[in-house]
Amino acid sequence: MPARLMDGKALAERIRGEIAEEVRELGDIGLATVLVGDDPASDIYIRLKHKAAAEVGINAKDIRLASQTTEEELLDQVAQLNSDDSIDGVLVQLPLPGQIDEARIVRAIDPIKDVDGLHPQNFGQLLLGRPGHVGATPVGVMRLLEEYDVPLEGARAVVVGRSDIVGKPQSLLLLHANATVTICHSRTKDLGAVTREADVVVVAVGHANVLGPEDVREGATVIDVGMNRGDDGVVGDVDPATAERAGLITPVPGGVGPMTIAMLLASAVKAAKYRRRLVAFPGA
Ligand SMILES: NC(=O)c1ccc[n+]([C@@H]2O[C@H](COP(=O)([O-])OP(=O)(O)OC[C@H]3O[C@@H](n4cnc5c(N)ncnc54)[C@H](OP(=O)(O)O)[C@@H]3O)[C@@H](O)[C@H]2O)c1
Repeated sequence: MPARLMDGKALAERIRGEIAEEVRELGDIGLATVLVGDDPASDIYIRLKHKAAAEVGINAKDIRLASQTTEEELLDQVAQLNSDDSIDGVLVQLPLPGQIDEARIVRAIDPIKDVDGLHPQNFGQLLLGRPGHVGATPVGVMRLLEEYDVPLEGARAVVVGRSDIVGKPQSLLLLHANATVTICHSRTKDLGAVTREADVVVVAVGHANVLGPEDVREGATVIDVGMNRGDDGVVGDVDPATAERAGLITPVPGGVGPMTIAMLLASAVKAAKYRRRLVAFPGA
């Protein structure tokens, strides 16, 4: 029997409706995005984020800097946003041009406003099991798993990819949900042998067809984070034929992508609540 599709688009729409309600109650919420350079994929992500923010009533500020911007100039920009009381959340779109040290920029963002959850303080809190801001994509994946009642307690979860933005935080969230977690990456030997053991597989690699039907067990839950642009439009990391073996699978597009945008908005609301002293901790 083919897998049930996990409809991230519909769930994200519902979440955005709930966020719009919260924004109405909270009043003005400010989210600033900073894009350095003119990478076309980053431009699309930023546009989608702004459209979604506007729809829920978040005031989004779209800051665009030239590709030759220096590290010092970007640090100045981040410092301005940190001290701007009308801004609750700050997102610097990655990747940054080669002349800029990404880690230094991420460290400069006020952790309370760090809606991408990349600041070491937020990463540390996540590691300790008391998350504040966590990246929107892994949080969106957890929300999808919850929505479809996927059991995680004691489940074997395999995360393919160990990036700071997806793989690592995803693995930690699954661990905190009491799954037994294995992390795979480009040096993993016999990837299929590892993923075939999993009840839940999350794939965040960035190449089409990293996994196929032969790499998952019958009835497994498969979450495809990948977004790869080719001649046929956007495809995921997982061969769509995997749906013939999986129990649940996310489509691309329409699975994780819309959840990422919705959870980013949720993160901005979380930052706003903390900054207004409505919650004691951003993760509360
Ligand atoms: N849907 C969304 O909202 C959303 C959000 C974020 C990202 N994405 C997409 O998700 C994908 C991953 O993004 P990312 O930022 O995490 O990418 P990334 O920083 O490039 O990380 C990719 C990871 O995949 C691993 N990898 C590469 N080739 C592999 C292979 N053959 N087998 C196993 N692992 C392999 C790499 O291993 P090493 O560490 O050993 O190099 C690395 O850890 C991309 O397609 C991106 O566009 C989607």
